[in-house]
Parts: sequence; structure tokens; C-alpha cells
Amino acid sequence: MKPLSNRTGTFSDSVIRRMTRISDECGAINLSQGFPDFDPPQVLTERLAQVAKEGPHQYAVTWGAQNFREAVARKQEHFSGMPINPNEEIVVTCGSTEAMMAAMMSVVNPGDKVIVFSPFYENYGADAILSGAEPIYVPLVPPEFQFDPEVLEEAFRQGAKALILCNPSNPSGKVFTREELQLIAELAIRYDAYVITDEVYEHIIYEPNRHTYLATLPGMRERTIMCNSLSKTYSITGWRLGYVIASPEIIDRVRKVHDFLTVGAAAPLMEAAVAGLELPDSYYKELAEHYAHMKEVFTGGLRHMGMEFTNPQGAYFVLVNIEPYLRAGESDYDFCVRMVQEVGVAAVPGSSFFREDVNCYMRLHFAKCDAVLYEALNRLEGLKG
Ligand SMILES: Cc1ncc(COP(=O)(O)O)c(C=O)c1O
Repeated sequence: MKPLSNRTGTFSDSVIRRMTRISDECGAINLSQGFPDFDPPQVLTERLAQVAKEGPHQYAVTWGAQNFREAVARKQEHFSGMPINPNEEIVVTCGSTEAMMAAMMSVVNPGDKVIVFSPFYENYGADAILSGAEPIYVPLVPPEFQFDPEVLEEAFRQGAKALILCNPSNPSGKVFTREELQLIAELAIRYDAYVITDEVYEHIIYEPNRHTYLATLPGMRERTIMCNSLSKTYSITGWRLGYVIASPEIIDRVRKVHDFLTVGAAAPLMEAAVAGLELPDSYYKELAEHYAHMKEVFTGGLRHMGMEFTNPQGAYFVLVNIEPYLRAGESDYDFCVRMVQEVGVAAVPGSSFFREDVNCYMRLHFAKCDAVLYEALNRLEGLKG
């Protein structure tokens, strides 16, 4: 048999999804793959039941049902303050995952350089391989996860075609300040690069931090490709609804890539999800308060145990220092597998997010109800080196 493709031969499976499988096998509490264990807003599930009876059940317009695109445009205009044309500036995708892939395929030629901050969300590595991009990694230095402007400019100087910006950021929990975004914008304009943003945690932000949409900064609307999703905002990670917002010229290209990748997102789910996009401001306020509560419960418990961890400004992850628990020669991956088996809590080894050689973190998420968080904390007390 001839060998399968070289390009995909370098893939490992996703460590995040692998840890979920190991967690399920061991019946552990899964704090590895980031999804909530609570229900979506009732308006969404009720509307879904209605749509199941009434339809639609066939293909929608490939770039997204008209009413869904209009609802996305209204909601994103409201929060970002920038006008968005639902007919020319939005493509609906199967989650932000497909949005990122379609954006990368639309922008990048094989061999083009793309700047990625490290630590980074695991999928960006695969996006780079599939699109043929050569990543240039720029460190976000713990514990504040700041970048060195000189190092960033040097990366642009190497001729980067695009930068990937995850804001709020997974796994670091960093929320980029307006000043940092202004600097990124200045460099993107000066070196004529696109910025592909991943803003799936836009509404999961802890006081006093604020989310700034990069596309709203002067000169950035035409070079920003915003990838976003309903997964985290409405607790519907399984519905696989995301979207790209960009200029009509870029969207024209993304539409074509998206059409051949997936044809379209699920028509009944788009129809039902409009009810979520129409929720009032109070919904987003309560969502942020709910996450602030979960963060307080979980990080309060970790602090009480004397663990060292990063303090997220947004999203729902903490990077916990595992050095006190590592056995001689143990990798963070082996540690995480041991932790699932011995303690019954699943985490993601930190090394899967860093370009640098890092063996001192595990990532835990806290999108869980109180009882599960308290039980996970109880179990973590049993951690031994
Ligand atoms: C930063 C980031 N982007 C994208 C995704 C996936 O989003 P979606 O469910 O919309 O594909 C995740 C999921 O954990 C994420 O953390």
C-alpha cells in the first residue's frame, strides 16, 4: 500500500480529546476538555424541540441561513459597536474550529509564515499543518502572559502573512489590553499582515477586564478575520455553530472554502439558535457572573490547598503548577494519566499548549456545577508526588 499523506502523518491525535477518552474509561471527573456540565438556556432547548417538529431539515444556504446571519450581525454589532452586513460579511461555519480552518485556508499559501502566541490553543498547530503555514511562535511569558514587543516585531519582520490572536486566551486566560491590541494592530498594518482572531470566550470575562474587538481598532476592520462561535456563550458546544466576520472581499473567499469543506452548518440548529442570539443583555451579565462564581469556588479551593496557579482574566481554565507532585523523570503527560487513574480527575498536560519545553503545568477547566467542583477539589487533595 502507498503511504498516506505526509502532511497529516505528522499529526498526533488531540491530547485534549485523548484525555477525555481516558477520563471516561476511568470514570473520572473530566476537567480536561472545556465544556460545561450545565444546560443551555431554556429558550434554546424549547425552540429546538419546536424546530424538530416544524423544520427546516434540509440544507440551508451554504454560508448560513438568512435569519441566523441577521441575528449574528445584530448581536455582534450591539457588543462591538461596528456595523456588520449580514449579506456580505458573515459566513456561518461548523463551530469556530471550522471558521479558523476556513480562514487559514483562505489566507495562507503553503510556506507562508503565520505568527502564533505560545501557549496556544491546540488546534492552531493542526490548522497550520493543514493549510501549509509555517508558524512563528512568540512567547506569552507566565505568570502575566505578556509578550515582548521587540520579539513580536521581529516575527512580523520575517514576512508573516497573518497572526492568530486568541482573545480571551485559552489556556492562559489572558485578556489582551487595548494597548496590547493597539500595538498588534500597528504592527499588522505596518507589515501588511492579516489577523485571524478567535474570540469564542468574548463573554466569559472577569472584572475588571474588558473585551476589545480587534476589528474595531482603526485600520483593522479590513485586515481582521474574526472567528467566533455559539459553543461557549450559550453552552451548546455540541451544536457546532460558529461564524467568520470579515470584509466582503475576504468573506467571498471564505464562503467558497467553507462550501467545499462542509457545505454548511446544521439547518435546524441554526434556526433554533436564533433564540439565543436574541437574548437580552442580562443573559450575558448573568453568564459572566456565573463563571465568576465557578472561578471563585475552584481557585479558592486550589488556593486553600496551597497550589500555585495562573489567575485567568477570561475563559475558564487555570494552569496549575505540578512541579511539587512530579516524580523523578515524570513527564506532565504521564503525570496527568496517573492523576486520572489514582485521583480520578482529568487534566490536560501543559506541554500540549506550549512551543517552549515546558513540563510544569496541567490545565484544568472549571465550567462545572458546584458539587462537581467541590468533589474534584476533594480528590485533588489526594495528589501525591
Ligand atoms: C480558543 C478556542 N477556540 C475554539 C474552540 C472550539 O470552538 P467550537 O466549539 O466553536 O469549534 C475552543 C474550544 O475549546 C477554544 O478553546
